[in-house]
Amino acid sequence: MILRSLLFVPADSEKKLAKARTSPADALILDLEDSVAPENRIKARGLVREFLQGERGRAVWVRINPVGEGGYKAELADVAAAAPAGLVVPKPDSPDVLRALDRDLAELETTYGLPQGGIKVMPVATETPAAVLSLMDYRNPPPRLAALTWGAEDLSAALGAAANREIGGEFAFAYKVVRSLALIAAKAAGVAAVETLHADFRDAEGLERVARTARRDGFSGMLAIHPGQVEVINAAFTPSADEVAQARRVIAAFAGGAGVASLDGKMLDKPHLKQAQNVLALAEAARR
Ligand code: COA
Ligand code: MG
Repeated sequence: MILRSLLFVPADSEKKLAKARTSPADALILDLEDSVAPENRIKARGLVREFLQGERGRAVWVRINPVGEGGYKAELADVAAAAPAGLVVPKPDSPDVLRALDRDLAELETTYGLPQGGIKVMPVATETPAAVLSLMDYRNPPPRLAALTWGAEDLSAALGAAANREIGGEFAFAYKVVRSLALIAAKAAGVAAVETLHADFRDAEGLERVARTARRDGFSGMLAIHPGQVEVINAAFTPSADEVAQARRVIAAFAGGAGVASLDGKMLDKPHLKQAQNVLALAEAARR
């Protein structure tokens, strides 16, 4: 499963759902939370069910409302019945929330005759101050964890901040720290890290810069909020022909089983070999 681009689609919008069908996004996230007005939630759940019935092959995720909030059980029962690839979980204060969700999902999978553990989870793991402090607990990963992403919007509201960006547009220091911790938490849990969204959806140049930086730092994909962002993100998270060629040169330098090698006057050892193998694996996955 390759998860470079994950496109959010407000699940109460027939128009956007139809548009999403033709998007080259690796995954869709049908949103039942912040982009849907509470009075539209029931309608949106019906549209999620319909959408999943008509979709073949692509990973369709659903962002549910926070675990334990009013209407949680009914919403979860409806969504699980549609057997999505996974659930994006907003605002969990800690991985324990995902453990509680796992128990509820296990019951529903039994009820509906679905494979146990088939529905995966991806938390937006930094939306509350408590959640940030619990990131270390992902070292002992909760069941079903497939990826971890982070968000700055709800967190800055919770912190009482007036803004989460510097004048020049970069994230303020607190959010850079949180982003790094989320990346490290994902890797400690052994799952993919997904970069947060770029809200300025007409800014293709800025998006490309952010996405390339994310890939360099170790993220394997990024959230999208507009169809126009998907191709930029897919390209940024796919190794270029030059990168693939360079990776092959690095691997060739180790031919014969040497532990250390030299290439273009620089020392190469095991981490470089591993990085080169990662690039080839990613390029191969992107081709499929
Ligand atoms: N998924 C599918 N289709 C989308 C889409 C999305 N996320 N965002 C826009 N579109 C569609 C529009 O309906 C429009 O369709 P049309 O060509 O048939 O008219 C087309 O793409 C172009 O959209 P555009 O006019 O550029 O944007 P907009 O002003 O209609 O919408 C947003 C802007 C931000 C409201 C919209 O992109 C959106 O809803 N994004 C997702 C928000 C979300 O899910 N937030 C929760 C996660 S933070
Ligand atoms: Mg939110």
